Amino acid sequence: MIDTNRFPEGFLFGAAVSAHQVEGGNVNSDWWWWEHLESTPCHEPSGDACDFYHRYREDISLLAGFGLNAFRFSIEWARIEPAEGEFSRAALEHYRRVLEACREQRVMPIVTFHHFTLPRWLQDAGGLASERFPALFERYCDRAAAALGDLIGCACTINEPQGLGSSGYLLGINPPGHTDDREGAQRAVDNLLEAHRAGAAAIRSRYSIPVGVTLAMPDIQYEDGAQPGSSSLEVESRVNDWFLELARKDDFIGVQTYTRFRIGPDGPRSSGYDWSDLTREMTETDLTTQMGYEDYPQALGAAIRRAAKSCPGIPILVTESGIATAHDERRIAYMDAALREVQACLSEGIDVRSYLYWSWLDNFEWALGYAPTFGLVGVDRQTFARQPKPSAAWLGNVARNQALT
Ligand code: BGC
Repeated sequence: MIDTNRFPEGFLFGAAVSAHQVEGGNVNSDWWWWEHLESTPCHEPSGDACDFYHRYREDISLLAGFGLNAFRFSIEWARIEPAEGEFSRAALEHYRRVLEACREQRVMPIVTFHHFTLPRWLQDAGGLASERFPALFERYCDRAAAALGDLIGCACTINEPQGLGSSGYLLGINPPGHTDDREGAQRAVDNLLEAHRAGAAAIRSRYSIPVGVTLAMPDIQYEDGAQPGSSSLEVESRVNDWFLELARKDDFIGVQTYTRFRIGPDGPRSSGYDWSDLTREMTETDLTTQMGYEDYPQALGAAIRRAAKSCPGIPILVTESGIATAHDERRIAYMDAALREVQACLSEGIDVRSYLYWSWLDNFEWALGYAPTFGLVGVDRQTFARQPKPSAAWLGNVARNQALT
């Protein structure tokens, strides 16, 4: 009889971060510029973040010490190519050391090449909407993969490309901060599709590592009488379909989700965070998280099934799943429910190979600053001391037992 509480041999359990959100001092990136603009919607600048740039070794051994065996982080294009065509051997060496630290601790390094930030020079040259973007991304992937590929476990080209057109060109919450620029948003999406294709090929041509894209797939539920509409959520979901089509040629598909969104006869019922009011208090309630999202870990099952249906036979990595909460027991309950969704999908025969919690650390949550706390580990904002929460040990135990108990 199959033990439904168990995960398959080799299943990866870990946590994720991204460079700008944890490294600190990412001064050459477009986000640094955006955070410091006078008219910025950002609550606060990223500053030193979690000083992960210097403390990666401590973080990776802490993670391994809890029993986790995978770590997803991103490499920073703005550091690797600080000026157009100038590649920094020192920055690449730094990321080799981060990768070596993972290998020494027997932690599988899952590396994202682009997680929301661009070098400032590239944003000035038109950013994602520039026709040069795909070729520049391809060259960056080629150079980074040549220098790091022998140590990378899995490579993710672009994080959540489905949302970058809308957040940067329609909603004005990410650089370049345009609102209602439909043409810019469309160009960004077209370029990102091409960039994923070209970047993935460049990485594969250097080393035979599994390559894929990571997509945010909230569970969109239509109620009786609701019609599909043109809310940004639904538009992003259609963009996901194009990426899922490309993902059929990839080595894995990265699935990430946080909640569900319900669409009623009059449109979306809960849109999560109200991006039109970034000054709103971030308080959680019994039903909602600090992000204003419904606390609904079951969304993960729907996201995995959607990816499996769109990309038959392609392995699925859960590359992000998490909750922003001040109550750690709530985080544990969230992970427990999300992992039960993973087990249900496994028992349906879907090839799921990882569960990476977002996030390893309480970190810089983009325009919302440091207020939302997603981490398994807290960070003292003065000393950067790591303060592991019970949830880190809880997930580590699941990993050690390869089972939910
Ligand atoms: C992103 C992260 C972000 C997290 C929580 C994901 O969409 O990849 O960068 O911090 O969600 O909002």
